[in-house]
Amino acid sequence: MRVVSILSLKGGVGKTSVLLGFAGAATVRGLATLVIDLDPQGNATSILAAKNPASTAAEVLANPTINTLHNSLTECAWEIAPGEVDVIASSPNLIQHDAFKSAAAFKPRLARALEKLEGYDLVLIDCPPSLGTLTREALAASDLAVVVATPTFFGLQGAERAAEEIEEIRSSHNKKLKLAGILPNRVKSVAEEHDYRIREMGRIFSKQIMKPAIPDRIAFQQAESFGKPIQTVGTAGSREVSAIFDKHLTTLIRG
Ligand SMILES: Nc1ncnc2c1ncn2[C@@H]1O[C@H](COP(=O)(O)OP(=O)(O)OP(=O)(O)O)[C@@H](O)[C@H]1O
Ligand SMILES: [Mg+2]
Repeated sequence: MRVVSILSLKGGVGKTSVLLGFAGAATVRGLATLVIDLDPQGNATSILAAKNPASTAAEVLANPTINTLHNSLTECAWEIAPGEVDVIASSPNLIQHDAFKSAAAFKPRLARALEKLEGYDLVLIDCPPSLGTLTREALAASDLAVVVATPTFFGLQGAERAAEEIEEIRSSHNKKLKLAGILPNRVKSVAEEHDYRIREMGRIFSKQIMKPAIPDRIAFQQAESFGKPIQTVGTAGSREVSAIFDKHLTTLIRG
């Protein structure tokens, strides 16, 4: 079972869209996938239409046992044969678990709950747009972290901070954690500024940039408004990004 967090300090860069792209790619391949939505905004939960969960990610953090985890697993309406996606839904109560804790006081809870989980090939964790306790919970429970960054000045700043946080959690709480890479998103091929920032990303993170980058495509909004995987949108743009997600999924699965 590979556990992957999708994060970035900056909001709106496409964390949730990238997570859903990977979940779609995994189901096309027939992988059993679990999405854990640790963002109190609950965007992944609403797209995946998790059906009335009896219990949510907030309960898992409040009481991190395998039983709470099992009670929180919810089937998702959003499936592409042959794979399947389950969800541990977000809840506004997650905010209570985002309060600052010093490194010494931070005792990972999600990692504890996931220790005994079986039956999934891939677990994807969606993070809020901050490096608070919820994102640290995700990192402490993960094998890999994907940092999503738009090719902008602020996007790059956010990626650098996220990479530092990954290193911090690796050294203090989770030796197995690795940065899978920085994934540039919403890249416009005609924008000179984007070309410049992509080269700058290359200088800062050298081999850690995931290539190819994700282009800016209307298929993301179409998938969102239909509430279905981008892999099923059926346009040239959706096929293009689906192939990119599939390629990067191979890297995630190899670790
Ligand atoms: N490659 C892309 N091309 C076009 N639109 C995109 C792309 N990636 C994301 N978007 C759009 O950008 C918006 C923000 O994306 P998303 O919600 O995934 O970002 P986020 O980082 O998860 O945001 P938040 O920080 O609020 O959780 C959405 O409307 C989404 O459709
Ligand atoms: Mg999001």
